[in-house]
Amino acid sequence: MDSMQKIISLCKRRGFVFPSSEIYGGFSAVYDYGPYGVELTNNIKNAWWKTMVQLRDDIVGLDAAIFMHPQVWQASGHVTGFSDPLTECKNCHARSRVDHLLETIDIRADEKMTEEQIANLFAKNQAKIKCPNCGKNDFTPVKKFNLLVKSNLGNFTEDWNREPVYLRGETCQGIYTNYKNVVDSTRVKIPFGIAQIGKAFRNEITARQFIFRTREFEQMEMQYFCHPKQEMKEYEKLREARWQYYLDLGIKKSNIKWHQHENLVFYAKAAYDIEYNYPFGFSELEGVHSRGNYDLTQHSKFSGQDLSYTDPITNEKYTPHIIESSVGVGRTFLAVLTEAYTEERVKDEERVVLKLPMALAPIKIAVFPLLKNKPKLVKKARAIYNNLKTPWMCEYDETGSIGRRYRRQDEIGTPFCITIDFDSLDDDTVTLRDRDSMKQNRIEIKELVGVLKNKFL
Ligand code: GAP
Repeated sequence: MDSMQKIISLCKRRGFVFPSSEIYGGFSAVYDYGPYGVELTNNIKNAWWKTMVQLRDDIVGLDAAIFMHPQVWQASGHVTGFSDPLTECKNCHARSRVDHLLETIDIRADEKMTEEQIANLFAKNQAKIKCPNCGKNDFTPVKKFNLLVKSNLGNFTEDWNREPVYLRGETCQGIYTNYKNVVDSTRVKIPFGIAQIGKAFRNEITARQFIFRTREFEQMEMQYFCHPKQEMKEYEKLREARWQYYLDLGIKKSNIKWHQHENLVFYAKAAYDIEYNYPFGFSELEGVHSRGNYDLTQHSKFSGQDLSYTDPITNEKYTPHIIESSVGVGRTFLAVLTEAYTEERVKDEERVVLKLPMALAPIKIAVFPLLKNKPKLVKKARAIYNNLKTPWMCEYDETGSIGRRYRRQDEIGTPFCITIDFDSLDDDTVTLRDRDSMKQNRIEIKELVGVLKNKFL
């Protein structure tokens, strides 16, 4: 099994990620997060929020709705320009993204190439490409496929499709449309940022690479509003901060790298992605882009509202420039699992362990009575569990041998396990086992909270 398959299998086996609607055969490119998956995504989102909002005096949060006025997507350019190049196999009718087909023969189309450039590249190389579904080489001409997902929200007519309401294709549009509300209702002054976490939807043509590319996904985006002359200085600061964030998240330096976009859209000053070394190679984790004043200018034009900013000290009036940081929760999830997944040999047995940073571990502490049929052990273990579960996400487990219980917790990345044995009844001590070193220390029960607090600092 390759490492991607091992991660997918662990996610299913241990309740991290399930295919959507699996009892009906699944639903392509949509996934559900199970009991440990939801804990991990919450921890990822909390870590991001803490870095982006809690620890920053210049960034505030927002939670805009998924549905927005349809004009938003006209102004942003998504209705006309948010598309991928598509071709269909004439033999089996499987649809494929043209740039993905090119990748099968090791040609990487730059993400900012025009549709025409990609179509030309495909035409030049088409003879060498096989349909991933049936293996034939007979494709329709390349056409544009718009990625926005449509709905009939609030439209009760038969032909709602003519004036659809879109599910948002990116969360940042809600930040742009609320920029003025935030300026008018809070004490923010430029430069400042607005951060948001939320769902986004895209009709991705090809579903692949597990949760890397899904049709429903969650984004963590921060848009930073600044004076035009400060844009590049702020951009460099943001790039540095985002790089450091991944190191702090436990990602090895050698597993991330910058990818500079060569073909910039006309309004952009600079665009870099942070790529992570996924099991299938380096691919985009996050985009850090400098967007000029395009977004507010467009929304000002389409809404007729003045979205300029007047400096309270100099009285200078200008349209703020924006730099953005945008990353998917699912892609972060896959990166931290890839980083944490470890196979070790312990006394001739294989141990699978997720060496997740403590802040991200779904369960922080597991508590076990040595035997489940000894009421005194169970009572003591339950009392300890009840005491620890207020400050930390804990799990109580009394089934199977202690060895099996340790292995179960190793596989979900639990940093500490506490075992209550017969000595515990006499001397009020327990064993505290460390996930990574597997060392076990005897600790007095009255010291437990203090010892654990120090470890989780
Ligand atoms: N507002 C800018 C924006 O949305 P993007 O490069 O299209 O830019 C930003 O998306 C991030 O969102 C990506 O770097 C990736 O982490 C995540 N993302 C985009 N499409 C995704 C998809 N189909 N599935 C999972 N994550 C996705």
